[in-house]
Amino acid sequence: MTTRRQFIMGTGAALTALGTGKMSFSQEPKKKPLVISTWRHGLASNERAWDILKQKGRAIDAVEAGVQVAEGDPKVSSVGYGGWPDREGHVTLDSCIMDEKGNAGSVAFLQNFKHPIAVARKVMDDTPHVMLVGEGARRFALAKGFKEEDLLTKEARAEWENWLKHQEYVPWAPTTNPTHDTISMLALDQAGDISGSCTTSGLAFKMHGRVGDSPIIGAALFVDNEVGAACATGVGEEVMKTVGSFLIVELMRQGMSPTEACREGVRRIIRKNPNWQDLQVGYLAMDRQGRVGAFAILPDFQYAVHDGKSNQLIDVESYSG
Ligand code: GLY
Repeated sequence: MTTRRQFIMGTGAALTALGTGKMSFSQEPKKKPLVISTWRHGLASNERAWDILKQKGRAIDAVEAGVQVAEGDPKVSSVGYGGWPDREGHVTLDSCIMDEKGNAGSVAFLQNFKHPIAVARKVMDDTPHVMLVGEGARRFALAKGFKEEDLLTKEARAEWENWLKHQEYVPWAPTTNPTHDTISMLALDQAGDISGSCTTSGLAFKMHGRVGDSPIIGAALFVDNEVGAACATGVGEEVMKTVGSFLIVELMRQGMSPTEACREGVRRIIRKNPNWQDLQVGYLAMDRQGRVGAFAILPDFQYAVHDGKSNQLIDVESYSG
């Protein structure tokens, strides 16, 4: 596998030292189109999005189709089918989507639908609302022809039954949930338009009824086609309390690079949390020129970037070094 360093060298992109002994991915403009997404499961999702972008498709269609790969993969234990359940054994899903015109749709606390992002897109396209939750979202999905199915896999049920033995809730436990969190995706299409999507089964063993940042426009996702877009992964409560993605887009509007803006988004969380070492939040941003940046609290965050030449996983600079 090509390493992060080889990728950076291969693209001839500039490096920015951030003073912690690590390097961040470049701030150099990239050619359109481009798609980026969170974590290792972003690689396969990027491929699906790229199929649309390379044919001059719209970014909104690419980000909707792309994240469905992670939603449908039973091995991804933090998104859609195969997601680890809440503490009562229910897989509850949160998703949102936003296009270049500022249109947005979202669903929260949705159960038994494999592709909540597609339901969120229908909320955006076919209703006068932005967000539908719970039973209302279920009825809407059925009316739109989506089929209910059981999303709790044998493996996810076993993890839940194991958790029931101790019932200790740790919001961020990457050692026990190795596929990590939410998939969030941003795409820039050949027309120069940006869109984003975000979808998750939320934090494993959360309280029943808990909704995270992933369906909240401005928290886990924000797109402003004049400036760029940002998205989040990690402990949703911290992202919501700082309205992270909206903040990052506004910081880019004021002149910060995507990486600088993501770093400031992380700093806002750190300042309020003496226990920040127990939390992970990762931000990913893209500006109108296709410059990409990311920053995280802890060092395990990675994102996948597909620019047509390669589809690569990038290690992200973190506050903890
Ligand atoms: N970031 C996903 C969640 O907190 O549910």
